[in-house]
Amino acid sequence: MKALASLFAVLLVAGCGGQPAQTQASNAAVSCAKDVQPILTQTCVPCHAGGKDAKGNYDLTCYAGVTGNGEDSVPNVLPGNADSSTLYRRLNDTVPTQMPKGRPALTAAQLATIQKWINQGAKNN
Ligand code: HEC
Repeated sequence: MKALASLFAVLLVAGCGGQPAQTQASNAAVSCAKDVQPILTQTCVPCHAGGKDAKGNYDLTCYAGVTGNGEDSVPNVLPGNADSSTLYRRLNDTVPTQMPKGRPALTAAQLATIQKWINQGAKNN
């Protein structure tokens, strides 16, 4: 019984040990300019920059462009709701076209950065 109790204690300590660091990382503020923009610059801006010439009329530069409407009147970023945001959905959904168009999908880490930024309120930071 004593052995079991100490095993439990070890597991408890080990379990808690990893927690704070993880929570901290997931709570870290994601910056539009510093974290999101480099991803967009590399993978999206070649097609989505330059005002009227931008594909889908969607200029993917922080901040005004990214949070803009594109071709329709619906904002592509809904602060706090990545799953309903056109920007995030286009990165995961092949209908009508998965972005970046004709290129490999973003990595899980890149997707997580964009998702987190939107869910943290899509701030102009
Ligand atoms: C090779 C060119 C190309 C690249 C690279 C590209 N796109 Fe697009 N994108 C398009 C074209 C063309 C359209 C318009 C046709 C359509 O809606 O599928 C479009 C449309 C969109 C739309 C819909 C705009 C609207 O409101 O109607 C979103 C959102 C979008 N792209 C996001 C992205 C993101 C985010 C990236 C980078 C990860 C990206 N795109 C990379 C060509 C591209």
